[in-house]
Amino acid sequence: MTTPPILELRGVSKNFGNTLALHNINLEIANGEFLTLLGPSGCGKTTILRILSGFEAPTRGAVFLNGQEITSSPPELRQVNTVFQSYALFPHMSVWDNVAFGLRMQKRPKVEINQRVAEILRRVHLAEYGDRMPRQLSGGQQQRVAIARAIINNPLVLLLDEPFSALDLKLRKQMQFEIKHLQRQIGITFVFVTHDQEEAFAMSDRVVVMNEGTVIQVGSPQEIYEEPESLFVARFVGEINVLEGDIRAARPGGTYQAEVEGVPFILHSRREFAEGETVKVLLRPEDLKVYLEQEKAQQPPFFLGTINETVYKGATVDILRTLDNGKKLQAAEFFNEDDADITYRPGDRVSVTWVEGWEVVLNAEGE
Ligand SMILES: Nc1ncnc2c1ncn2[C@@H]1O[C@H](COP(=O)(O)OP(=O)(O)O)[C@@H](O)[C@H]1O
Ligand SMILES: [Mg+2]
Repeated sequence: MTTPPILELRGVSKNFGNTLALHNINLEIANGEFLTLLGPSGCGKTTILRILSGFEAPTRGAVFLNGQEITSSPPELRQVNTVFQSYALFPHMSVWDNVAFGLRMQKRPKVEINQRVAEILRRVHLAEYGDRMPRQLSGGQQQRVAIARAIINNPLVLLLDEPFSALDLKLRKQMQFEIKHLQRQIGITFVFVTHDQEEAFAMSDRVVVMNEGTVIQVGSPQEIYEEPESLFVARFVGEINVLEGDIRAARPGGTYQAEVEGVPFILHSRREFAEGETVKVLLRPEDLKVYLEQEKAQQPPFFLGTINETVYKGATVDILRTLDNGKKLQAAEFFNEDDADITYRPGDRVSVTWVEGWEVVLNAEGE
């Protein structure tokens, strides 16, 4: 990171009695970044946000905001605000009053309050809605009021804890787009929490994958999806085929001669493997290439198998097939005009290979 981080967690652990909620978390968040904590329920996401906002103190470790240690500063002295899932708007107050509330509590001059509320409502595209009551707004508009209220004090960081989990899919997608757009406009660092990988990928500059109180992998959505560092990450962020392999010999340029499900293949990996080592070869459904036996004379290497089932998904068709050794695979075929006349039917004999270099090779433990 070239500029100093706006937020930093250094060796942060958190115990609740005998529960180790967080274990040695080290994380740097860049200024202006949209960072998402992604992981299954109970992995410690909310606990991290509560430690950042000051509602919870770490058992060990330190937190820095803009270079200053804030580990034991109270929430009101941190330039960090939180948007909650429920929005927590005051139902009996207008949009304007909801947004002005914090500045009035601070007894800011009236002229300043009017000017800042007008400015922030304009920024969240609610300039015309100041007189409305929360119940007269759509879910998305209420969310924007909650954000306006949270950013009017110019926080350095905005924390959002699963803010869309109560919304239906369509509104959720729309809000993802709006929040992302808003974050780009206002340039404030967002730390977002979700257990939904699609949501994390759609919104974030970087994603932090967590499990059981630890950080498993940090990277851009593309890195996390295409280069998962463990089977846990690969499975958590999408469908994955796992093939068994044996390393036969290392070759120059990060390639290995190997047997995968008994068929000789060349594997590409930046990792080091020993001759004779057992490995897992991970392939996304869209990495696989499938040919009807009569369709193309394929160059080896490939597997032979039989189509079990096809599942129509709109843009793609999932093809479930069984290799001759019994292994089941899932492939996604995009509709392709050139291939429009090719349909796969249960029982069809096929050969299967993958786009060279798209495999992820992990050790026998899937790490
Ligand atoms: N106040 C608390 N007291 C006891 N245990 C807690 C408390 N808050 C969280 N935990 C536990 O810490 C772990 C992490 O919780 P949390 O951060 O809420 O996970 P997430 O937000 O990822 O679902 C869970 O095992 C949870 O039960
Ligand atoms: Mg939570």
